[in-house]
Amino acid sequence: MIVTGTFDPVSQKDLEYLKQYRKENNVKDLFVSVSREGILGRYQRQKLLEKALRPYRHLHVCNQEGEPVPAFDEDMIRHGNFRLAADGIQKQLMEDNCYLDQIVDHMCKPARAEHSRRVAEVCVHLAKVHHLDEKKAYRMGMLHDITKKMSDEEGEKILRIFDPERLSISPKVWHSFTAVYWLKENMGLYDPVVLNAIYHHTLGDGKGAYDHILYIADKIEPGRGYDTTRQMKAAEADLASAAAMILEQSKAYILAKEGIHV
Ligand SMILES: [Fe+2]
Ligand SMILES: [Fe+2]
Repeated sequence: MIVTGTFDPVSQKDLEYLKQYRKENNVKDLFVSVSREGILGRYQRQKLLEKALRPYRHLHVCNQEGEPVPAFDEDMIRHGNFRLAADGIQKQLMEDNCYLDQIVDHMCKPARAEHSRRVAEVCVHLAKVHHLDEKKAYRMGMLHDITKKMSDEEGEKILRIFDPERLSISPKVWHSFTAVYWLKENMGLYDPVVLNAIYHHTLGDGKGAYDHILYIADKIEPGRGYDTTRQMKAAEADLASAAAMILEQSKAYILAKEGIHV
């Protein structure tokens, strides 16, 4: 017996449904194929499905079309609820940076989503120059402002429980801290390198290479509207000193805006 679904991507509920379907139809082996249309390519969805079905002896992936089956929770996974994906593929979705465009579009206003894409590009460029992990760099760039749209009330609720000392800092900075909570909770993202960089991206007080990259990229992405050639050159040469320079400049800028001259 053959069934076909979108599996974009396969969710834990899809998996339960397939197991149940096999039992109800009283078949020894159920063959499962992936439909043509999806956000992820068919081949990639098929690979993920194979991974998810691996522990089940009587569920197999095939290429032939069969009876269509409904999709469960798949749209929610594409919006960042990776925890609803089949157990076997959650890590893979993260590693392959799946659905980051969809997640950012869902969570952010359009201008913020575009900013995130440009930041991610600068992060990848700097990671490449400094021989660091480009996929990680892309991930942190895309996700750094993920909770920017969250209201102060909601931010306060989260920080009160998870990071209360941060409540004394301006609410404008809170999204750096609430993002970490959101990413753990929804996407199951626990990579300390990515989380640290996001946590420190507004204040610029991170000490690692990825912290510097994100802080710099956020400040010098091409949409910022001023010439950042000098900062980019500095960042390509040395991340720590470039980050320190940009931090100094932005402190001077804030003080100047407040009418205090340094
Ligand atoms: Fe931010
Ligand atoms: Fe940003």
